Parts: sequence; structure tokens; C-alpha cells
Amino acid sequence: RGKRAFIAGIADDNGYGWAIAKSLAAAGAEILVGTWVPALNIFETSLRRGKFDESRVLPDGSLMEITKVYPLDAVYDCPEDVPEDVKTNKRYAGSSNWTVKEVAESVKQDFGTIDILVHSLANGPEVSKPLLETSRYGYLAAISASSYSFVSLLKYFIPIMNPGGSTISLTYIASERIIPGYGGGMSSAKAALESDTKVLAFEAGRKHNIRVNTISAGPLRSRAAKAIGFIDMMIDYSLENGPLQKELTAEEVGNAAAFLASPLASAITGAVVYVDNGLNAMGVGV
Ligand code: NAI
Repeated sequence: RGKRAFIAGIADDNGYGWAIAKSLAAAGAEILVGTWVPALNIFETSLRRGKFDESRVLPDGSLMEITKVYPLDAVYDCPEDVPEDVKTNKRYAGSSNWTVKEVAESVKQDFGTIDILVHSLANGPEVSKPLLETSRYGYLAAISASSYSFVSLLKYFIPIMNPGGSTISLTYIASERIIPGYGGGMSSAKAALESDTKVLAFEAGRKHNIRVNTISAGPLRSRAAKAIGFIDMMIDYSLENGPLQKELTAEEVGNAAAFLASPLASAITGAVVYVDNGLNAMGVGV
């Protein structure tokens, strides 16, 4: 039987989530997607109208099939956690069962089990503010959407994951080195995500034979990255200063994710894997 993957954090064809879905599909996996509730309508409409058809093409010429798209807001674990103003918000009221626990229940009902879980989402409302100017609210919101969301996904999805399964998140080197401009507590959120990758690898490995890894990806002009504001500068910097002087493609990160999810990586867990043209290894820019 082919493997089944759930990828949280796809809302267009520009980000890492989409590229990971494609690499997994090319390797034969069935693709389920979790899309942020406010972005669901436009994503599904674009998908249906063929707007993504060109980017759905796989290496063998066939089109990636997405078996099902689930609305998801990874900031809420269960219906009791959802505040009234969100519940009644126009963009949320049209969808249902989008808390993490409910999505896991729906996937279980629809498909029984999954083998691969990908977390490709982050959000920091104050990302453009330096850490020193970040509010407590902004900092905690960044951690909630970008770090705890991974803990929560594992908590609710591991029970429906087949033993031998693999989980992957996306992180950024701003967790360990100073990247001015990656503010609002986003650097802190990525540090938490990387530390949690180790602890969760232990807990999920011992108890469920599930692997937990994170990919530290280089800069990509995704929707989220454009919102931060300095993405072109980071791409230029990497091009100028990295060991490999080529632009990083989302596909290269997708392929690394497909490797990590496969039996080829059966002894790799608790790892931060750099897919960044080697920029992390540089000590100074040259
Ligand atoms: P993206 O915009 O394609 O993906 C982020 C997704 O998160 C979006 O689809 C958004 O709708 C979703 N999202 C935000 N809040 C959510 C919530 N509460 N619940 C569910 N979904 C939510 O952008 P990108 O850049 O591909 O981001 C994917 C991951 O890659 C993120 O973790 C990001 O930090 C990471 N990353 C990105 C880099 C870059 O240069 N683009 C570099 C290193 C890591």
C-alpha cells in the first residue's frame, strides 16, 4: 500500500508545503492537505479552476492529486478553545471541524490512518517588530501558531499514525544565529520548534516508533516570507555568501522532506537538517 501524508500549511503553490506535497506525491504518497481557514475558499477555488494546474505537474508528466483539503486553524486544539468572535467571524463560520483535534478525527473517519505528517506553517503577528519592541501578546501568538501548533498536531495525529511513520516541520536559522528583521518572537518560536523536535523525537520514538525531524530551510519567496519584508535581501545574501551560489528552489526542500519521510531515513530522528545551499556553515560573508 502507498503511504498517506497529511500536510498542514498549504494555501497556494508558492510555499514549501506545496513543494513537499509534490515530492511526496511523486514518490507515490496520497496527499491530504490542511489549509488555514481564512485562506480555504480562495485555495479551493483556485485549485478547482485549474489555476495551479501548471504547478501540479509531476516529473512523470502526471498531475498531483490532492485527495482532500481540510480546513484547519492550528492555533486552536478543540472547539472549547475557540473564542466567540472567531466562531462567528464570516471567514470561519462557513467551515466546521477545523480545530486540530477535530481535523485528526475527520482524517481518522475518512481514511483511518496516515504515515507522514508535515507541519509547514508559521505566523507571527508582530514579525516586523524587533524583539525588544514585541508585545507579550505578539510573542505568545508567534509561539502558539509556529511552535505549539506542532506539539498539538503530533498530540492528535500520532494516535492515527502507523508505526514507522515520520513527521517533519520547517524551521529557520534565525533560531540560532542573529537574523535582524526576523522579529516578533519568530526567532524564539523557531528555537522552541527545534528544541521540541528533540524531545518529541524521544517521546514519539519510544512510545510509537514515529520519527520527528525539522528542515532548516534557506530563504524562499513564499507568501509568508514576502510578508516579513526582507526576503529578497536574504536570497541575495545567500546567493552571494553561501557555498553553493544558486537560488534555492522549493523543490529541493520538498525532495529533502520526501527523503526524511522515507525508509531511506529510517535512522534519522530528532535532527535539524539544513537545506540551505550550505549557508549555515559559513562563519563570515565573502
Ligand atoms: P507559506 O505562506 O506558503 O506557508 C505558511 C502557511 O501557514 C500558509 O499557508 C498559512 O495559511 C498557514 N498558516 C498560518 N497560520 C496558520 C494557522 N493558525 N493554522 C493553519 N495554518 C496557518 O510560507 P512558507 O514560507 O512556505 O512557510 C512554510 C514554513 O517554512 C514555515 O514554518 C516557515 O517558517 C518555514 N520557513 C520558510 C522560509 C522562507 O524563506 N520562506 C525559510 C525557512 C523556513
